[in-house]
Amino acid sequence: MSRARAKADRNPDDLYVTPRECAETLIQTIPLKPDWRILEPSAGDGAWLRALAIHPGFGGRVDCVEIRPEAEEPLRELYLELGLVGEVYVADFTAVTRRLVPGGYDLTVGNMPYSLGREFIRHMLFHTRRNGVVANLLRQGILHTQGRRRFNRAHPCWLNYRLDERPPFANDSTDSAEYGWLLWRKGHRGRTLERNLSWTDDSPCRTRDLELVRAEDWPLWSAV
Ligand SMILES: C[S@@+](CC[C@H](N)C(=O)[O-])C[C@H]1O[C@@H](n2cnc3c(N)ncnc32)[C@H](O)[C@@H]1O
Repeated sequence: MSRARAKADRNPDDLYVTPRECAETLIQTIPLKPDWRILEPSAGDGAWLRALAIHPGFGGRVDCVEIRPEAEEPLRELYLELGLVGEVYVADFTAVTRRLVPGGYDLTVGNMPYSLGREFIRHMLFHTRRNGVVANLLRQGILHTQGRRRFNRAHPCWLNYRLDERPPFANDSTDSAEYGWLLWRKGHRGRTLERNLSWTDDSPCRTRDLELVRAEDWPLWSAV
């Protein structure tokens, strides 16, 4: 399929739901603390809210933003169902220019609308406190496309988990891109660490990969 055709076939709001086990595995790489203030800025139908809710370090507080008004009611119901505490904002996240919490969030996380590219990441960084974390399930292409040099110099990615398996986004059969779980730490100026990560339940590597993430990458988190 041509690139133009693939683009035309894309969902206008970039609504691609993250598979449950993918969100659950990826969020397990982050040692959440119960007092962390968390934001999901492109909530969709709440895949990351569900994944957060079963993370042992999650304290129950998370705010979310979603541009589609029709998503508001289901998201509010999901908050009740999961016992989450926080705000549901219906807004264009890139137009939210006032801080939603004093000092910024500890973690801003999700599977952002890819079409908004680095503008969305910059905005996630704006809403995150210094040393806080911005975590995105993204195509690796974001690090390599036009304009990358300036962006990667200004905001070097901290951890790049290259995903062994491509997430099967339900309504996009045209996508053959390589995906990553990309983490920025606000203020990080060093190199990008690259790891491989397997996320499917049936992968023999998943448990081992998560053990390695904890052994090798978690010590870095004492500074977060
Ligand atoms: C790739 S989907 C991901 C949904 C959800 N985070 C998930 O992982 O299942 C992107 C979501 O962002 C929403 N969205 C698109 N543009 C947005 C914007 N400017 N501000 C907030 N949400 C936006 C879409 O409606 C869609 O729900």
